[in-house]
Amino acid sequence: MNSKFTWINGRLVATADATVPFLTAGLHYGVAIFEGIRAYQTPRGLGVFRLREHMKRFDDSSRIVGFRDLPYSVDDLIEIVRSTVRANEFGDCYIRPLLWLADGGWHLTIDSGKPHVAVTVWEQAVYGGHGSPAGGLNACVSSFTRHHPNAMMTKAKVSGNYANSIMAKTDASRNGFDEAIMLDPQGYVAECTGANLFVVRNGKLITPPADAILEGITRDTVVAIAGDLGITVGESQLSRDHLYVVDEVFACGTAAEVVGITSIDHRPVGTGATGPVTTAIREAYLSAVRGGHARSDGWVTMV
Ligand SMILES: Cc1ncc(COP(=O)(O)O)c(C=O)c1O
Repeated sequence: MNSKFTWINGRLVATADATVPFLTAGLHYGVAIFEGIRAYQTPRGLGVFRLREHMKRFDDSSRIVGFRDLPYSVDDLIEIVRSTVRANEFGDCYIRPLLWLADGGWHLTIDSGKPHVAVTVWEQAVYGGHGSPAGGLNACVSSFTRHHPNAMMTKAKVSGNYANSIMAKTDASRNGFDEAIMLDPQGYVAECTGANLFVVRNGKLITPPADAILEGITRDTVVAIAGDLGITVGESQLSRDHLYVVDEVFACGTAAEVVGITSIDHRPVGTGATGPVTTAIREAYLSAVRGGHARSDGWVTMV
């Protein structure tokens, strides 16, 4: 990561100096919540995509886990992100706010510790730094089950939740796949390891219901964009074999953007290439994040 400056507990410091003591409960128990946000260059300057929605989810995540009396409001956090992005002076970049349990928390209660907060920024994007590949991804269905919503809170972006994603993605990668699709505890399609999932069948978009997934901000963006394009969108349970017979499948998330999944479990999806609906949504999304879409003004916060 080539991050230059990090804002940590009220101070902007060189990222190398933004360190956390080994004896920090959040590190030992995975009690931390985070966001993944992107800033893109737009004709008006650098803009953060859907910043308020991300910081609202950050606030929601911390409350779901049980933090109370947060030290910063959503408005404060928005300004902290903007100033940290400005300080790093990058072009397109990735923004990582994190809140973790520190100053105690050794008795397996949130109330015996305190929330600490940091925000950092780095330049490297996922998928080798070149954005999501137009050519699509080769995915498998994971043998690891996605969290039950009453075991780990799936609406909260909790660091500890990601051990599940990391196991699934590592297994997929060791087996030669780019991505893993995870099923929920009932056996229905949930989401990818760090992205939501849509399928296209007979020209209609279908995405799994919000029950066992992280409710992605890109997912919400896709629903709006699809509506603008006159594409019908619905939520419905999808079984594993739906994935084998639909016309198109795509993943969407801040890091993944909108990317076709062109093969699942060694079966080509549709024609085996990124399909026309995915392409239309992907193009509209990439234009929205870069300020070139009719909705961009409402979605992009200039830094
Ligand atoms: C498990 C999971 N699902 C979905 C998403 C997509 O969320 P968003 O579109 O808000 O980035 C992410 C990424 O944050 C994720 O980690």
